[in-house]
Amino acid sequence: MLPPLGALTCLSRSELDLREPDRIRRALAEARPDVVVNAAAYTAVDRAEQEPELARQVNALGPAVLAEAARDCEAAFIHYSTDYVFDGAQSRPYREEDAPNPLSVYGRSKLEGEQRIDRVGGAYLILRTSWVFSLRRPCFVTQVLHWAHTQDRLRIAQDQVGSPTWARLLAEATGMLLVRLGPNPAQALTGLSGIYHLAASDSASRLEWARQILRLDPNPDQQRVPAEAIEPASSRDFPTPATRPAFSALDSSRFTSAFGLRLPSWEAGLRLAMSPGP
Ligand SMILES: NC(=O)c1ccc[n+]([C@@H]2O[C@H](COP(=O)([O-])OP(=O)(O)OC[C@H]3O[C@@H](n4cnc5c(N)ncnc54)[C@H](OP(=O)(O)O)[C@@H]3O)[C@@H](O)[C@H]2O)c1
Repeated sequence: MLPPLGALTCLSRSELDLREPDRIRRALAEARPDVVVNAAAYTAVDRAEQEPELARQVNALGPAVLAEAARDCEAAFIHYSTDYVFDGAQSRPYREEDAPNPLSVYGRSKLEGEQRIDRVGGAYLILRTSWVFSLRRPCFVTQVLHWAHTQDRLRIAQDQVGSPTWARLLAEATGMLLVRLGPNPAQALTGLSGIYHLAASDSASRLEWARQILRLDPNPDQQRVPAEAIEPASSRDFPTPATRPAFSALDSSRFTSAFGLRLPSWEAGLRLAMSPGP
């Protein structure tokens, strides 16, 4: 979504590894960007339980160096974080002022990243999002379609609630945000730096999400399990190494008030994501 905004330098992991502070500093000193957008992270939530130090390097220490390097070249820094900084004990959507209490190594590493970026200061936005999906790669949506097409029974947890967010809408909101900030994004962020929630505007359980995925399935004739035949289950039936919050819907109204932008409902996002292309 960013190319129309100006010259764009996209660095892959081999060109800019977040574990290498010197390369981060060099890359930014060379590019002299107006904006740095960091969508890279260690995101293997379960594996992180075995690799806490690696998760911390990529999610906490690296982003702090990026934030520092961005501040030093007077660039705005945009960084993504996660609903997994919360423990899920709440029953209304989480707001930015709600106290984080991560349940997993991944959540702790992302929270430490937020705190370090905040300490660096400068012009920065931390955009916490939730349950991101994209049909371009394996994700919950593609997995549910696969299960429904290949299995005779499908059981999905109904006790995990979040805000399923289409990656493309997140990218569009980021691009539009930058347009709103104008030619000097760092200056435009004066007084606005901080944490913002940015996710679909409402929430669903995994079960509701899975049912809607099957209702929108472009190949319903391949379904061995139709939407209404998915059986409700408990997340306790599917133990994982990392504990996930039971409830992690995000309230994004602070972002809307600050920047005049919002993401649509999770259902609208899912419908857009699953509608056949031209
Ligand atoms: N997915 C979700 O449900 C979700 C929910 C809430 C928040 N988020 C946040 O959203 C952001 C994007 O997540 P995502 O789901 O798009 O993640 P992803 O698909 O796993 O992508 C992460 C990217 O980071 C790169 N990366 C990993 N280690 C790196 C390193 N040491 N140096 C440089 N790059 C490295 C990966 O490179 P390779 O391709 O080489 O592995 C990959 O391109 C993250 O901040 C994540 O915490 C995601």
